[in-house]
Amino acid sequence: MTVLQRRPCIIGNWKMMGSQKSIRLLIKELADTLPSQDNSENIDVVICPPFPYIGLVESLIEKINLKKTILGLGAQDVSSEAEGPFTGEVASSMLADLGCRYVIVGHSERRQGLNETDSLIARKFKKGYDAGLIPILCVGETQAERTRGETLKVVQRQLEAVLIDMGPSVFEKALLAYEPVWAIGTGQTATPAQAGEVHAFLRSLFKTQSEDCRNQVRILYGGSVKASNAASLFAEKDIDGALVGGASLNAEEFLTICRLAVLSTL
Ligand code: PGA
Repeated sequence: MTVLQRRPCIIGNWKMMGSQKSIRLLIKELADTLPSQDNSENIDVVICPPFPYIGLVESLIEKINLKKTILGLGAQDVSSEAEGPFTGEVASSMLADLGCRYVIVGHSERRQGLNETDSLIARKFKKGYDAGLIPILCVGETQAERTRGETLKVVQRQLEAVLIDMGPSVFEKALLAYEPVWAIGTGQTATPAQAGEVHAFLRSLFKTQSEDCRNQVRILYGGSVKASNAASLFAEKDIDGALVGGASLNAEEFLTICRLAVLSTL
């Protein structure tokens, strides 16, 4: 069996937090430490600011010539519509126009808090993908679903909503993130064994693909990832990085998580 080396990816999800002032500071701190692409470490690092600050972050990246580094820009959500009379929505073409390369879809704070359905999320995924963005599909069970033993059934349903429509090969240019709802923002991280089990199961769902393709799908873990617990999560063979919320607002924590992801590949 050939197991292909997967490039780790760390995504910082800033959620609805920050200000122009705090973002300027955070980008400067990140820029001072991130490696340049010339001597790049083997990792993708992405930050997802709130919509109103995407332009600011893009211009800061440009200004301090961060283009030479490995920092990518992403958005936290996207509309399921192309354009038109959809007040308050943001189109995938606008994100691409602003320099975004990634977009999160199906975050549990939108599934739960805003009642986003699997089919709506699949349409958002498609819009992002068709605009040339790399969608990051979030899946994960609630505490009640885990207690009822439904974890694998839930994540399968959430992933298949996209796979049925678009086929497994889209994940050559997309990312999957397992984020148990009970672990998000709670400080209660899934154990490496709990996360590892779900990641292995998710990978097994890409069954119509060749073994090489299945082994290339990158699956990130999210839910209270910190510098202190990242290494043990990254030691799991099916965990290819992290979607980081709270800890991504602290440059030192975030960069330590990035370094640990690289170390896990050595
Ligand atoms: P957290 O958030 O790291 O603060 O738990 C993760 C996420 O919501 O993506």
